[in-house]
Amino acid sequence: MRDAYIVQSIRTPGCKQNRGLFNQTRPEELISFIMKEAVERTKNLSPEDLEDVMLGCAFPEGEQGLNLGRIAAKMAGFPDKVSGAVVNRFCASGLEAISLAALRVQAGWSEVTIGAGVESMTFVPMGGNAPRPHPEYSQTNPEMYISMGVTAENVAQRYNVSREDQDKFAVASQAKAARARDNGLFTEVVPTPAFKYVPQADGTYKKEEFIVEHDDGIRESTVEILGKLRTVFSAVGSVTAGNSSQTTDGAAATIIASKEKCDELGLEPIAKFVSYATVGCKSDEMGVGPRYAIPKVLEQAGLSIDDIDIYEINEAFASQALYSIRELGLDNYMDRINIHGGAIALGHPLGCTGAKLTATCLANLKEVNGKYGIVSMCIGGGMGAAAIFEKI
Ligand SMILES: CC(C)(COP(=O)(O)OP(=O)(O)OC[C@H]1O[C@@H](n2cnc3c(N)ncnc32)[C@H](O)[C@@H]1OP(=O)(O)O)[C@@H](O)C(=O)NCCC(=O)NCCS
Repeated sequence: MRDAYIVQSIRTPGCKQNRGLFNQTRPEELISFIMKEAVERTKNLSPEDLEDVMLGCAFPEGEQGLNLGRIAAKMAGFPDKVSGAVVNRFCASGLEAISLAALRVQAGWSEVTIGAGVESMTFVPMGGNAPRPHPEYSQTNPEMYISMGVTAENVAQRYNVSREDQDKFAVASQAKAARARDNGLFTEVVPTPAFKYVPQADGTYKKEEFIVEHDDGIRESTVEILGKLRTVFSAVGSVTAGNSSQTTDGAAATIIASKEKCDELGLEPIAKFVSYATVGCKSDEMGVGPRYAIPKVLEQAGLSIDDIDIYEINEAFASQALYSIRELGLDNYMDRINIHGGAIALGHPLGCTGAKLTATCLANLKEVNGKYGIVSMCIGGGMGAAAIFEKI
């Protein structure tokens, strides 16, 4: 296989569902903006060089329905010849999209592709607008349809992840994110146009643009304050709004090119796409996914836990992130994991998350001058995914 190089990887800020700054900005606007921006920021690359867009989205319906991969490519002003598709692996959709885009380059089927992700949880809520579980199967296998929060409670209870440890983990995520924001360390974030509809005297609405510069869900807290929050998914449980990921709107894009095209155009590679793995696990404890996906991808790449300088392990819930970290023996490497916070502070825009964490991982690898980075997450239905990137 050929080498696939990342030549750009950026994201919009993540903004809270409904109450956040993107609550009137449609998903097509977020994703077309970030893809256009990714091309414009890449020295010596023109839209004419692109061949395909692979777009991750976890609930591709309503405003993010039809074929948003193609619609967003056209809205970004890319030429007709740039094709587009949508890929759904729930919370790994964005990473799946990047992997598929990279595979095309590795196989020699494309020279320059985009792997991206988008989710507006404001416009299309988790579960979709009109979920219709299979009538008989959902009776016999309700675990395929249960709330993700219930699976997080299952992980906490089955594997003894205490409320206090979850809250400590959540406080640390918020503190790291606040520190990174205050010190300008989110270098992968691009100030992004957002819209609001302002009522006019004549009863109509005027669409007004403003710029969003930062993730808007960061909320510093203490273990004492979080300890007082009520549980959300089970009366006697430990999972709260404070130690869960936030529901969020956002988009992210990564441009991938062959070595040959990099040489021809003079593109500057940031990283090499090394390997990607997915694995299934029990549906009712889907959060354990990274614990299995990370060793699998490491084995594929011939690397070990110690070789990895930056881990972006999605914080769907503190319980499952902590469980995975402990089982993998990563407790000694906490200073390499989610160094600028995770989804508890920054949000988890489902289908965007894999693409968002890739941008963050590559920025953080550069910041610490590391070599290898891992992006990993658990996935609804009972799966884990993990990808390895090597900084150039
Ligand atoms: C847990 C969940 C239901 C909470 O939703 P929510 O009620 O909208 O959450 P909010 O962020 O508005 O927080 C609710 C309240 O908790 C408290 N709270 C939350 N985080 C806090 C913090 N860090 N410090 C102090 N209080 C906090 C506040 O009182 C807050 O209300 P306020 O903002 O009006 O003051 C939602 O975030 C969720 O579903 N998360 C998981 C998403 C998911 O399953 N993703 C897929 C994973 S596979």
